[in-house]
Amino acid sequence: MPAGSSRVSDSPRTTADPVIAFEPLNTEERVRIIDLQPDLGDLHAEAIAGLRSADKHLPCKYFYDALGARLFEVITELPEYYPTRTELGIMSRSVRQMANVIGSHATLVEFGSGVGLKTRKLLDALIEPAGCVLIDISRGALEASAVELAERYGNMEVIAVCADYTQPLRLPRPRRPSARTVAYFPGSTIGNFTHDEAVRFLERVADLVGRGGGLLVGIDRKKDRSVVERAYNDALGVTAAFNLNILRRLNETGADFDLGAFRHHAPYVEAEGRIEMRLISEVAQTVQIGDATVDFDAGEHIVTEHSHKYDLGQFEEMARQAGFRLTNHWSDERDWFSVCFLEVGGA
Ligand SMILES: C[S@@+](CC[C@H](N)C(=O)[O-])C[C@H]1O[C@@H](n2cnc3c(N)ncnc32)[C@H](O)[C@@H]1O
Repeated sequence: MPAGSSRVSDSPRTTADPVIAFEPLNTEERVRIIDLQPDLGDLHAEAIAGLRSADKHLPCKYFYDALGARLFEVITELPEYYPTRTELGIMSRSVRQMANVIGSHATLVEFGSGVGLKTRKLLDALIEPAGCVLIDISRGALEASAVELAERYGNMEVIAVCADYTQPLRLPRPRRPSARTVAYFPGSTIGNFTHDEAVRFLERVADLVGRGGGLLVGIDRKKDRSVVERAYNDALGVTAAFNLNILRRLNETGADFDLGAFRHHAPYVEAEGRIEMRLISEVAQTVQIGDATVDFDAGEHIVTEHSHKYDLGQFEEMARQAGFRLTNHWSDERDWFSVCFLEVGGA
């Protein structure tokens, strides 16, 4: 299929499936919050294990405390940071086609919903969704966006689950009968996983949504490296602040990183097809984390996040390995970003 195209029509949406008639929800039924208490208490143990390994690294899920979430919001508005703007443009143009592909009375499950901007775009177009399940590790942002969505869509149940989506998870079911479950994973967040982790994550999603279920997923495409590197090394240094915030957060829990002795740098590593968010130690130093110490050579770096860029064919193959079939995709005119719809099973 050529870029920007899709096999579905943009014709007016069909009316609801007559078999399922939804009764109005009362106020208590509209929003449910389930806290699985993702284990942030292990921050030190994970940090020490990552920093003592041969390739020093820290888990990117720790970026998103309240300050990290706000810094990310600012990043999405930077002129250099094309992914959010490009994905939102694709959504604006094609969301009705996406809604038609998903069909009526679906349960939407979003992984890492954040402030829910893209969620709202999708829900505005969905045909009588049976319910919406939001999963996020950051409890504050999750609760705020669940309440906001419940107010905005008065006749749809919102279930917010505070959980780590990299861990095994059972999905809560909305009260209303649902035609199918469709997961939503925008923002090219899938690119934060390595190839094998991404396939394993897709397998778990396929299992969660079950036969007949689907996944709408945003992927950042391969492009000129200068465009990508500018996006992750912005002139104002907001991405640098976002990256260093992970060390500040560790300091709040008893580490003693000198933030001035680490420098942000995010090169595109061609062989891996990914941006690596790095924090480079400017000097030889020893850092205390709780009772442990970690040594750094001058110039040695910590990798805090990967951001993989994909060819469409490569992503289609990963989806296939996980038990999904790519049925539709929508892209911008430069093929910088794609929103793909995957279905479980099928030929
Ligand atoms: C980059 S933001 C993306 C927000 C939104 N989906 C978008 O595309 O604009 C990532 C979100 O995922 C959440 N997140 C990151 N790692 C997570 C994990 N392991 N489990 C659950 N949520 C996670 C963060 O708290 C944050 O809200």
